Amino acid sequence: MYNKGMLPEGTFNNKVVLITGGGTGLGKSIGEYLVKLGAKIIITSRRQNVIDETAEEFNKISKNSTIAIAGDVRNHEDVKNVIETGFKHFKSIDCLINNAAGNFISPTERLTPGAFDAIIDIVLKGSTYYTLLLGKKWIKNKIPGTILNITTTYAFTGSGYVIPSACAKGGLSSMTRSIAAEWAKYKIRCNAIAPGPFPTKGAWDRLVPPGFSKFINMTKRIPLKRMGEHQELSNLAAYLLSDYSSYMTGEIVTLDGGEWTYNAGQFSFLDKIPKAMWSLIEKTIRKKNKK
Ligand code: HXC
Ligand code: NAP
Repeated sequence: MYNKGMLPEGTFNNKVVLITGGGTGLGKSIGEYLVKLGAKIIITSRRQNVIDETAEEFNKISKNSTIAIAGDVRNHEDVKNVIETGFKHFKSIDCLINNAAGNFISPTERLTPGAFDAIIDIVLKGSTYYTLLLGKKWIKNKIPGTILNITTTYAFTGSGYVIPSACAKGGLSSMTRSIAAEWAKYKIRCNAIAPGPFPTKGAWDRLVPPGFSKFINMTKRIPLKRMGEHQELSNLAAYLLSDYSSYMTGEIVTLDGGEWTYNAGQFSFLDKIPKAMWSLIEKTIRKKNKK
């Protein structure tokens, strides 16, 4: 069931979507679903060969649907060029997905200032540059644009060993709500998704190094006992970008199989108590109620 597309055919007819980091992983999966729903797509990332390959795949699904423009989200000139070239090609851009990210696990005391900068510059500043430069264009041309930011669940909680990413995603979540509040008057909406674990090569190469699975079972942390399916995320992304969610803005939607609330909950560990023991526990507690 969860591998099926959710929205009606043609939902994105006449819509142009710009996806940063759209050549791989989750950005690619979302892009593919949007193409199937009729969207035109601009994908961008640093590696031209990677985005060219993805664009070719998308164009096989829907002819002339996709263009690939290389650029680094940290570079203003690249950001401007992607927006201007994309706009000229498709005559508009209606939606932006700030999906590009950098991340790796590391004890914080091993980080250099340059390592912190790299992640903040990609995730927080890169997403803000795109939002700013495209937003100005939308406001000037009275385009009711829609923004979707991809954040994480540890943006809510913080997390050791990924401090630059946690700080950057925390900022991105805050940017989501702030832009939503300020630009609603221009009919620009801005929402975010906070995904739990959705296996991708980019994330797993940097967050789950080989051998890790011997010590750590990531699925055990998730109360629904499985990782996310890309189609599940694509369904939510498509909904948040579509007119079906036109009354929703400033929202950060978690999609994580219950992972973060489960692990934050002080008593979730009681799962480990066998069912048979609960009668005895209840009896003992009730005894204490006696005056
Ligand atoms: C410590 C590191 C490091 C590591 C790089 N650096 N890797 N420090 N441990 N493993 C330091 C470098 O020494 C350098 O600092 C700085 O970071 C920048 O690194 P560069 O090699 O110059 O590359 P650059 O292109 O600037 O940055 C790329 C990158 C790389 C972010 C480091 O990982 C990358 O290309 N990532 C793109 C894709 C990605 O990360 N995808 C995963 C997203 S997953 P100095 O001081 O030496 O200059 C995600 C999921 C979250 O976000 C939630 C999951 C459940
Ligand atoms: P991914 O495949 O590595 O995607 C990251 C993309 O960002 C790559 O295509 C990369 O392409 C691009 N990118 C990185 N630095 C860039 C830069 N400076 N300029 C332009 N593009 C850049 O990883 P993913 O798992 O799909 O992650 C996608 C998004 O989901 C990220 O925002 C991530 O934080 C979020 N997320 C993922 C998970 C998960 O479990 N997978 C969980 C929570 C959140 P180039 O290298 O070609 O530039």
